[in-house]
Amino acid sequence: MCGIVGYVGDNNVYDILIKGLHRLEYRGYDSAGIALANPSGKINIYKSQGKVSNLEDFCKDKNLEAKSGIAHTRWATHGEPSDNNAHPHFSEDGNLALVHNGTIENYQVIKDALIEQGCTFQSETDTEVLVQLIEYIKIKNNCNLLDAVREALKQVVGAYAIAVIEKDNPDRIIAARNSSPLAVGIGDNETFLASDATPFIEYTKDAVYLKDGEIAIIEKGEPLKIVTLENKESKVDITTLEMSISQLEKGGYDHFMLKEIFEQPTTLRDCIRGRVINNGCNIMLSGVMDSKEKFLNAKRIVIVACGTSWHAALLGKYLIQDNCKIPVEVEYASEFRYSNPILDERDIVIAISQSGETADTLAAVKIAKDMGAYVYGISNVVGSSIPRETHSGTYIHVGPEIGVASTKAFTGQVMVLTLLSLSIAQIKKTMPYEKICELGKAIIKIPSIVQRVLKLNDKIEKLSMKYTYAKNFLYLGRGYSYPVALEGALKLKEISYIHAEGYPAAEMKHGPIALIDAEMPSVIIAPMDHVYEKIVSNVQQVKARGGSIIAIVNEGDEIISKMADHVLEVPEMPECLTPIITSIPLQLLSYYIAINKGKDVDMPRNLAKSVTVE
Ligand code: M6R
Repeated sequence: MCGIVGYVGDNNVYDILIKGLHRLEYRGYDSAGIALANPSGKINIYKSQGKVSNLEDFCKDKNLEAKSGIAHTRWATHGEPSDNNAHPHFSEDGNLALVHNGTIENYQVIKDALIEQGCTFQSETDTEVLVQLIEYIKIKNNCNLLDAVREALKQVVGAYAIAVIEKDNPDRIIAARNSSPLAVGIGDNETFLASDATPFIEYTKDAVYLKDGEIAIIEKGEPLKIVTLENKESKVDITTLEMSISQLEKGGYDHFMLKEIFEQPTTLRDCIRGRVINNGCNIMLSGVMDSKEKFLNAKRIVIVACGTSWHAALLGKYLIQDNCKIPVEVEYASEFRYSNPILDERDIVIAISQSGETADTLAAVKIAKDMGAYVYGISNVVGSSIPRETHSGTYIHVGPEIGVASTKAFTGQVMVLTLLSLSIAQIKKTMPYEKICELGKAIIKIPSIVQRVLKLNDKIEKLSMKYTYAKNFLYLGRGYSYPVALEGALKLKEISYIHAEGYPAAEMKHGPIALIDAEMPSVIIAPMDHVYEKIVSNVQQVKARGGSIIAIVNEGDEIISKMADHVLEVPEMPECLTPIITSIPLQLLSYYIAINKGKDVDMPRNLAKSVTVE
């Protein structure tokens, strides 16, 4: 949700922190701030509402001299986005400065107690409560900062990643995590801290991911030390990062979202690599092989996820039920966690999350594990919390997704779910060998087919002009195209702020049909599949009410093409592989409509890439 950056070393910290904040801006961008530990024994805090570039403008004439500091880009939870509520927050005596990602659930109780002790507050945030509590404990117990942080965190209920600096100790950062991510980058005589590795990837490939309940002591000239809340020393586990800088840049595209849409032939190839072998006739996911017995004996699979990942989960249900004959339920992770789920050791819970950090999905994983279910993770971010918490799983390997609206991660998730279903089908023998070969061969061709579909770009850009000022959209699909309709509608809503609803096409006549008129376009996803003829009648129902139709059909389609106002043709594929293909034109349509409206597609209002709060 929010992004944290920190640095201790010999270089000018301001430049490193600002660059890092830009990299983390996808996590939140309603305000930003920076605390510089000046060697003269002063902490300078500069904050500004809005994007990181506003903070840069604000800092132009300020004293930026410092070799260590912390910084933050915010997605507001407590208190509106404003200069005052932006992080870092000072403690009352100005000795400590703190940045925080997450929510402190019992902040009001702590705040009331501190007010009784005479504390005053400058902001409406839960974060300021935490820094005041640390300072209060430090003074009351006459202890050092580390002990005060440990003690304060024991009193706190909620999710947090924090970093604190102290005026009297300018070359040290104390950082801690519980349910919100934090990574430490270990360089040559310099140490970095960040919500993910992207701010320090150009300086070091050595990263340490903190675990829940751990506190990092980052001090100039000292090796990284990690302790628990009980002050027991933890092992410093160094991971070598595989990410590259070019993956974090726009590479000539106007926006990350467009770059990520166009990357899909490559990302899908990376996702398939080494997993579809023997000319398509053997589909192997090592995560499934490692848990073979579990999948062979599973009585039910429950998939939990949020947002776009939930749409991928719905496709997972069709894929697993069709290909493996195992009953599947799909749940919003946020509902699942409070629904008294009934699970046992013969259930498999699959958690899908691009970021691997979504708070609701992570909580669902923990509940499922506690109840004895076998938990399988599908994620993009290597080393993130969900892959670490699950028993086994699969990475989608699509590279960092920076655009807030998910595109290449969605197709990567659907691809992994397709491979998962075929991998299980192979071990359970629920599909004839010839059928697996046929699908495996078709999967190998998907990257080049996506490349062909991307040639629709210019046509879609032109078409988008006609619909830029529509107030509402309906997205309709049946079977495998229903989750694609949901995802198409979500994409449009997120970045263009146009109201859009995805519906199972046949369900439309039970209510939404009342909305249809000449002002209400419907996007109909109708590849040649076993429900094609059914959807033809749904198209007729829209036409009969004067609605305009944008149809995604297969090349050579003769029926719906004649009825639709605009037709986008994609190559024909086996039915269970169509979603990856049909979702591409919908991504482009949303992108261009949002661009025509002058919207910031990479950082849409109110959204953040990684939702690490409830
Ligand atoms: O990182 P996750 O996949 O767990 O994120 C889940 C949702 O927050 C995410 O898919 C969200 O809906 C995106 N903005 C979709 O574009």
